[in-house]
Amino acid sequence: MSYWMNGWRLTGLLTALLSLMVLGIVAADGFSVDAIRTAIRATARTSLLLFLPTFIASALVALWPGSKTRWLLRNRRYIGVGFAASHGLHAIVIIAFAIRDPALFSSMTSIGTLVSGGSAYLFILLMAATSFDRAVAWLGARNWRILHWCGAWYIALSFIITNAKRTPDMPLYWLPVVLVLLAIALRIAGWWRRRGKLRAASVPA
Ligand code: HEM
Repeated sequence: MSYWMNGWRLTGLLTALLSLMVLGIVAADGFSVDAIRTAIRATARTSLLLFLPTFIASALVALWPGSKTRWLLRNRRYIGVGFAASHGLHAIVIIAFAIRDPALFSSMTSIGTLVSGGSAYLFILLMAATSFDRAVAWLGARNWRILHWCGAWYIALSFIITNAKRTPDMPLYWLPVVLVLLAIALRIAGWWRRRGKLRAASVPA
């Protein structure tokens, strides 16, 4: 099993499982609009589940160094591209929804949604495209860090907003909001810990 739990094989496994999930959901109900909408919600949730560990991977190593957190950090890139695949599927089923029921689709979305969601997709595309060693070398480490830092925070905020706006109809949507807020708190704690260690290391003995 560990064969599938590392590197691009892990990305491939995640993408295959997610594609099967989407296909299963829409095919089980004859490609109906309801089934397509279920697949939109399912892919939004799998995206969050894949995004969160990549968002906090280096904080977890700083706070709790160990074999599990190091495995996560080593595979952050591959899980991150798995997240991009999940959100790619979110986009595909959104397009299917817009084609199958354009009136309902436009009643549920606005120009604001398309612009803010489209910007998140631009970040996801750029981050996935620069997840290869050659692209990192081409972009330069500093530019790469800026792109991935800005993208990660923009996506985290997008998850907070897209879930929070559903809380008035269903309070359970507070759960993903709280999960993202906890992840942000962990990221800040990890940054704080690393900063403390760097300072301690730079104090002359
Ligand atoms: C232009 C881009 C996007 C469009 C048009 C769009 C459209 C939609 C639609 C129509 C739904 C509701 C499906 C339903 O309940 O029937 C939905 C759900 C959702 N979307 Fe997207 N989306 C976009 C991008 C994003 C992005 C970038 C994120 C987060 C990073 C996101 C996160 C979510 C979440 C959290 C849900 C709710 C899932 C649930 O019910 O658990 N979406 N989206």
